[in-house]
Amino acid sequence: MTTRVQPLIEIDGVSKIFATSDGQPTWALQNVSLDVEPGEMVCVVGPSGCGKTTLLNLIAGFIDVTDGAIRLQGEAIKEPGPDRGVVFQEYALFAWLTARQNIEFGMRMRGLPKAERRTRADEYLKLIGLERAAERYPHELSGGMRQRIAVARALVNEPRVLLMDEPFAAVDAMTRATLQSELLRIWQQLKLAVFFITHNVEEAIYLSQRTILMSPHPGQVQEIIPIDLPYPRDRGSPEFGVLYARITAALHSQDSKVVHEESSQ
Ligand SMILES: Nc1ncnc2c1ncn2[C@@H]1O[C@H](COP(=O)(O)OP(=O)(O)O)[C@@H](O)[C@H]1O
Ligand SMILES: [Mg+2]
Repeated sequence: MTTRVQPLIEIDGVSKIFATSDGQPTWALQNVSLDVEPGEMVCVVGPSGCGKTTLLNLIAGFIDVTDGAIRLQGEAIKEPGPDRGVVFQEYALFAWLTARQNIEFGMRMRGLPKAERRTRADEYLKLIGLERAAERYPHELSGGMRQRIAVARALVNEPRVLLMDEPFAAVDAMTRATLQSELLRIWQQLKLAVFFITHNVEEAIYLSQRTILMSPHPGQVQEIIPIDLPYPRDRGSPEFGVLYARITAALHSQDSKVVHEESSQ
C-alpha cells in the first residue's frame, strides 16, 4: 500500500462571494479545489478579476471563505500566521524603517530579543545578497532590491509556504529575470512551498512545477498543467515554446467565452 503524503495546503470546494455597494454580490471564486504539496512550486495564471488575489488572501488568512474549507497541514486556516509568508507586488516595505529593520519587524512584534533579531535579519540579508544595503531606507533601493527585502522579510519567520502576488510585475524585464532565478535558488535551498500568482505565462513556465490556469466570472480552476521540464529552464527550448503556446491558447479561449457571454445578454 502506498501512503500519501499529506498536502501542505488543501483548498477544498472553496467559494467566496463579496457583497458590493450596488447590492450585486460578486462570485470571486466558485467551488475551487486544489492541493499544494510540501516544497512544491505552484504558479497561478489567469486574467484580471479571476480571483487570484482572493485565493491568496484566503490562504493567508486575511479573509474568510464563504463556502468550503482551506487547511494547512490538516488544520483549518482561521487567521494569518508565521507559517505563511506573503509578498505583494509593491508598497510592501515600511518607508520609515531601514532594510534590516523591515526584515526584523515581524520578529520584533513577536518579542524576539534584539541580538537574535539582528543575527537572523543578517542571515536573510546574506541569502538575498544585500548585506551591504542593510542600513538603507526603501527609497534608497531599486525596485528589484525592494522586492528582495520583501522576500527576506517573509522568509525570516521560516514559513512553510511563500505566498506571492505578482511580486515581480513592477520591475523591468532584466531585473525580473534575475529575481526569478534567485527565487528558484532560494526555493531549492530552503525547500519551502511557493504559491506564486502571475499574469505572465512565460514566468509561470519558467518557475513552476504545476501551473494552475484560472478563468473568471466566476473565478474557477480551468486547468492544471504539469510543467515537467528540468531546472534551470531554457526559455528558448522547443518544449518551453510548446507549453507557452498551449497555455496562451487556453487563455485566449477564455476571451472568446467572455465575448460570447456578453453578446448573449
Ligand atoms: N473586497 C472586495 N469587495 C468586493 N469585490 C471584490 C473584493 N475583492 C475582490 N473583489 C472582486 O472579486 C473578483 C476577483 O478579484 P481578485 O481576486 O482581485 O482577482 P485577480 O487578483 O485575479 O485580478 C473581482 O470581480 C473583484 O472585483
Ligand atoms: Mg490580483
